[in-house]
Amino acid sequence: MRASWSLTPPTNVTGLHPRVVVGLTGGIAAYKVVSVIRSLVERGCDVHVIPTESALNFVGRATLEAVSRNPVHDSVFDGVSEVRHVAMGQSADAILIAPATANSLSAIAEGRADSLLLTSVLASTAPIVVAPAMHTEMWEQESTQANVATLVSRGVHLVGPASGRLTGNDSGVGRLAEPDDIVEAVLAVLAPKDFVGVRVLITAGGTREPIDPVRFIGNRSTGAMGVALAEAARDRGADVTLIAAHLEVPTPRGMRVIDVGTAAELRDAVLREFVSTDVFISSAAVSDYRVASPSPVKLKKSSGVPTLELVENPDVLAEAAAGKGDRVVVGFAAETDSGNFEAELARKAVAKGVDLLVGNLVGESQGFGNVPTDIVLVNSEGVRVDEVSGSKAHVAGRILDRVSRQKDSAR
Ligand SMILES: Cc1cc2nc3c(=O)[nH]c(=O)nc-3n(C[C@H](O)[C@H](O)[C@H](O)COP(=O)(O)O)c2cc1C
Repeated sequence: MRASWSLTPPTNVTGLHPRVVVGLTGGIAAYKVVSVIRSLVERGCDVHVIPTESALNFVGRATLEAVSRNPVHDSVFDGVSEVRHVAMGQSADAILIAPATANSLSAIAEGRADSLLLTSVLASTAPIVVAPAMHTEMWEQESTQANVATLVSRGVHLVGPASGRLTGNDSGVGRLAEPDDIVEAVLAVLAPKDFVGVRVLITAGGTREPIDPVRFIGNRSTGAMGVALAEAARDRGADVTLIAAHLEVPTPRGMRVIDVGTAAELRDAVLREFVSTDVFISSAAVSDYRVASPSPVKLKKSSGVPTLELVENPDVLAEAAAGKGDRVVVGFAAETDSGNFEAELARKAVAKGVDLLVGNLVGESQGFGNVPTDIVLVNSEGVRVDEVSGSKAHVAGRILDRVSRQKDSAR
């Protein structure tokens, strides 16, 4: 039986890690898959690489073992006492074939079983992701297209190929998909699907309040946490709307994105979208104040030191929570004072009327961007219900686990 699992980082000693078999086949792009393997390990997967004989001409076993942190087997007659020729496929939570050569696509479509990779694929009921890579002529060949169509019709997930520079001087369709896209495709098939049919509204990034046409009052939020939440919710089947304020991380795909600039624009977008959402997660850093009368022209140094009059912005989270009905509302509170952290979180959770409040300590060298983070989750009564450390993707998964429970109990 397959292990139950959650996406946890490799350092987590409590959880089981999803087991991903990576079938590395004999294409020039095999070297790029080394970084895919590394990322999957970093995202908490237990990766077992099965190279074909041809693949080992492109990447060495030592590299694959070091990066995957597991021994690499490639023969049907290895580990016979463990019945390894089927055990690896049976115990996999997902199989990734990357790069997938024309030859291996054909062999899998045909149901051949003359290598450890092929017996593993045949013995598995796990979802399969294939990332083909080959020259354009090979990709466009009727036989290759027929094999791909057969695999897709059987539920295999196709990622790529992309178009671009190929080996040699030519370019065209057939280039391996970007490593990050391949990792995303694998994580998407691994994710539980507990948000199917759930509409999730998330704010991310940091608002900017204009001082004049070129200057603003801003903050150091990059949007990494909100984007990690949006991607995790999407992968778990949610219909996601992301309200994005000056993201400094790539805009995620597979969701509706509404760009906003100021706190007022963010508030307008939230209030408009809130009526048709089931879950609202407010992770953007929204400025508490704005300049009362921004200058329509650039302030000149020669005019002397300006005095800025600030006025308070509405509290969007408290406003949304006040009219939440049976929606689940999650807020974020960034604090810099570790001494008073928990008491302040409890006070805010109650004052704002949210279902969950995520607290994190931030500072000059802490909390912002794609860095590991530590959070504490408190419920509507201010009682601590969880604490999590790790990558933003990991933390996002744990926050959604809690939201999932909350939405089920609200039904
Ligand atoms: C330098 C070189 C690069 C190759 N690149 C590719 C490739 O990108 N895609 C592909 O389908 N085949 C490529 N091949 C051909 C495969 O290696 C060959 O079809 C092999 O039998 C594939 O075996 P496998 O699918 O078991 O790994 C390449 C061959 C060589 C010598």
